[in-house]
Amino acid sequence: MMSLFTKPGLYAAALLLSTGLGACSTDPNDPGVEYAPEMYESIPYEPLRQTSFNTINAFGINERTPANGTVPRGKLNYYSHIPKDSVRIAERTLNNPYAYTKANIEEGQVLYTRNCQHCHGEKGDGQGPVGQKFKGVPNYSAGAYKTMNDGHIYHVIQWGRNRMMPHGSQVNPEERWKIAMYVRVLQLNNDPADLSKLVKVNAPAPTTSAEEGNASQQTDGANQKAEGQAQAHTGSETPAQGDKGRNGSM
Ligand code: HEC
Repeated sequence: MMSLFTKPGLYAAALLLSTGLGACSTDPNDPGVEYAPEMYESIPYEPLRQTSFNTINAFGINERTPANGTVPRGKLNYYSHIPKDSVRIAERTLNNPYAYTKANIEEGQVLYTRNCQHCHGEKGDGQGPVGQKFKGVPNYSAGAYKTMNDGHIYHVIQWGRNRMMPHGSQVNPEERWKIAMYVRVLQLNNDPADLSKLVKVNAPAPTTSAEEGNASQQTDGANQKAEGQAQAHTGSETPAQGDKGRNGSM
């Protein structure tokens, strides 16, 4: 108790009081005195948070806009100019750009197992554990489903159809084409062992960027050409490669 009334104690109390009062102001936008602001305002540039005008970068912002024509990895052909409800157009105009190699179809099988099997079933008969509860999941080898081509399946994966939700955000274009190949296998007789029947080319699968060590990307590096203009209003110039993107590259 005594120590509070010693000289240093009084000075300390006065100092605390004055900084406390000094921090207050009548301006509601004034944050007042901040204690050690360096702790929460970073000195290196942060792209998504900045407290002062950046004198080096254009527009004074830390985050720079991507160079014109930039397409994020794996996003080429990501978007489609074919309307969601136009599966017939997809069926006629889209062609699978990937070869029916064993490696490609097997990759499709893995992706199918992860993304589709719980509804469509291991055999593509619609009897997956979720499919049984969800009801109305079709059998790939029955009726009109037996003749769906790759473009049709690709489109349905991207946009969904009727009660099936879109899966375009889960699988990129390359993955969609490979899944479509595996759906074609199940169309034959609902038998995963038919995979070998669809193998048409024995060529090795094209090297993907995944194999080059970038495991988060599964896009064919050869397809990563710079995009020209968004072709939202035109037909596909590259029918063999999915469809050109409205990918914001303008
Ligand atoms: C949540 C369950 C569910 C998942 C997951 C699912 N589907 Fe479907 N799918 C359905 C249902 C239900 C239908 C029937 C839609 C309708 O006509 O109402 C369907 C229909 C389809 C059709 C036929 C569309 C047509 O033209 O009539 C294809 C092809 C298809 N799915 C492929 C896939 C592929 C490939 C995947 C994985 C990427 C997948 N589905 C994931 C439930 C699912």
